[in-house]
Amino acid sequence: DKIGCLFDLDGVLVDTAVYHYKAWKALANRLGFDFTEAQNEHLKGVNRMRSLEMILDWGGVSKNEEEQLELAAGKNEEYVEMISKMTAEEVLPGTLQLLEQLKAAGIKIALGSASKNSGLILERTNLAHYFDAIVDGNHVTASKPDPEVFLKGAAAIGLEPAHCIVFEDAQAGVQAAINGGMKVVGVGQQNNLQGANIVVKDLSEISVTQIIDLVNDKV
Ligand code: G6P
Ligand code: MG
Repeated sequence: DKIGCLFDLDGVLVDTAVYHYKAWKALANRLGFDFTEAQNEHLKGVNRMRSLEMILDWGGVSKNEEEQLELAAGKNEEYVEMISKMTAEEVLPGTLQLLEQLKAAGIKIALGSASKNSGLILERTNLAHYFDAIVDGNHVTASKPDPEVFLKGAAAIGLEPAHCIVFEDAQAGVQAAINGGMKVVGVGQQNNLQGANIVVKDLSEISVTQIIDLVNDKV
């Protein structure tokens, strides 16, 4: 049977998580508070407006809807300035090799990202051409851990969720994949990736054979 790979973007294929963190931290600091890297972990995979809500909550700051939209726009402006300078060097280890091998094996590849900036990032880093389908924050309304983004990704490549495997660096994303009935490869550290079928440090640690075995329940 055909299988498909659904990739998260930030923190899996490219190291944009550090730019999100910088921009959100600057916003919090402007409002007079700070948050930790451990707290930042909870923002990964979470969409822009929900991330802002969580940060304001941590700082005990309340803002009305209009102010929230303005704050989110300011953060995004700063973030876009940073990612506009990205290069192909910022593609994470093992990514190109794995994408090439998947293509050669006839395995479908889709993006499943919460980001509304995925187009710019994929262009800047030369990754766009690998994808059979791109589903990102511009196409979904529910934030991970809701499975919407991955279910739409699976549908876009014409596959059942059970025939798809998700690659995620965020706990919210791992949960989204599980909620959608998909297998999950966690990328990063085990303690931030509860429920993942396997955890790797980066994509250089996983092979096409392992991926096929995992989807076919041979692991
Ligand atoms: C990814 C990141 C999150 C980010 C979200 C929305 O999921 O892990 O940290 O908040 O995308 O990104 P955007 O580029 O639309 O603000
Ligand atoms: Mg991510």
